[in-house]
Amino acid sequence: QIKGFIFDLDGVIANTSVFHAKAWHQLADKLGVTWTEDLANQLKGVGRMDSLNLILKSGGKENDYTEDEKVKYATEKNDNYLGLLKGLTDKDILPGMKEFIEDLSANNYLISLASSSKNSPKVLEALDLEKYFDARVDPSTLKNGKPDPEIYVRGAEVLNLKPEECIGLEDAVSGIKSVNGAHETSVGIGDPEILNEADINFTDTSQVTLANIKKAMN
Ligand code: BG6
Ligand code: MG
Repeated sequence: QIKGFIFDLDGVIANTSVFHAKAWHQLADKLGVTWTEDLANQLKGVGRMDSLNLILKSGGKENDYTEDEKVKYATEKNDNYLGLLKGLTDKDILPGMKEFIEDLSANNYLISLASSSKNSPKVLEALDLEKYFDARVDPSTLKNGKPDPEIYVRGAEVLNLKPEECIGLEDAVSGIKSVNGAHETSVGIGDPEILNEADINFTDTSQVTLANIKKAMN
């Protein structure tokens, strides 16, 4: 029986994945790494330093920089991202997600956040959604980022639920792998061909309702 929902943030609740991609694209250009759709998809859901390493690897530049230089570039990307976040409000919540979260809350489901982003508290606050979350995983306390299952294992633990009692919602391949590895039910939001490892697929957030999820689980 499902008792809890564990949410990714960027690309699931808000359109902020577009901002992350824009800021990484800009850095890739600066580093002389070709930006492709495939690279963009690989980066989705992946933490800050892991993302930079994927970009460098994609350009065959994984040994070109010291750790200090990498931190400098990652910080630069984050500063650009924060600039893009300015003016973010509840109007930037993706279609149907506020209603969905309110519905879960009204039906006494527990809700946690499993975002890789260190900026997630700031984003949730700007969207005025913090009050719906019973708990949050702090990504800075993790040993391994998505696609490792750790963040979704913790997403259930912080709700005092067993993995099989939880559904994880994701827009990223790395995230779906993490939910599946945690033995929870995975809901993929986006292109079903890309998110083909998800247990349940929706092409966009407006289809994500309790009724549709229940229907898909039967
Ligand atoms: C994830 C995003 O939610 O957070 C990634 O999908 C991002 O694009 C990652 O790289 C880490 O975010 P931050 O804000 O801590 O750099
Ligand atoms: Mg995401």
